[in-house]
Amino acid sequence: MPMRRAAAVTTRWHVYASAEALADRAAQVVIRCASEATAQRGAFSLVLAGGSTPRAVYERLRRLPADWRRWEVWFGDERCLPDGDAQRNDVMAHDALLAHVPIPAQRVHRVPAQDGAKAAATAYGAAVGAAGRFDLVLLGLGEDGHTASLFPGRPVGDEPDAAAALAVGGAPKPPAERVSLSARRLADARQVMFLVTGRAKTDAVRAWHRGGDIPAARIAPPGGVDVWLDAPAADGLCAGRR
Ligand code: 6PG
Repeated sequence: MPMRRAAAVTTRWHVYASAEALADRAAQVVIRCASEATAQRGAFSLVLAGGSTPRAVYERLRRLPADWRRWEVWFGDERCLPDGDAQRNDVMAHDALLAHVPIPAQRVHRVPAQDGAKAAATAYGAAVGAAGRFDLVLLGLGEDGHTASLFPGRPVGDEPDAAAALAVGGAPKPPAERVSLSARRLADARQVMFLVTGRAKTDAVRAWHRGGDIPAARIAPPGGVDVWLDAPAADGLCAGRR
């Protein structure tokens, strides 16, 4: 079967001199996005990225002024580990941000991944399905081009009728069992920001930049996506350095 080409999605590349400079600026942009959403719609719906890269942004966010009670937080994906396990994405977000700001607990929607991928995907899909368009989705990029828990060679759920959340088994990045928002649901957003740092991501970034069909390239919101890179991850892409 011929490889499907990724949907043509406007991709804006932003290169920062360092991971620290990227995190400083990204935190400010998130706060600005929150302020605009809250002013226009009375709330700010944010999807948090997992992995390690976003931690620096979350740690900066908690020190900035925001109308935190208007924030509504979702997770792009979660690892199927016991509740509270240090390797969970929601534990990283809690330690770096959520424990430090007064977002009402009922407005932080964690994935019940401890219940197993299938049950959690069904439950989370129902919850997030009713959430409306996200204001901002934060995502990472894996060395193989994955994003959230959407991995190469596997369903990413970018069809118009794709479920909102997918149960993922046999993931190449441990743990094998995960839950992920689908590409379709992640793209139902006003803004999508990828946060990518480190030389290990160079190959994935270059493949993406050349139009390769990696899972990250399947995230196709109407307004396009913004890919934030530090210099090592960008490794000389033509994008203008900031
Ligand atoms: C996860 C993430 C995953 C992550 C990338 C990048 O569960 O690990 O959802 O998609 O964003 O693998 O991870 P790093 O930021 O740690 O490089």
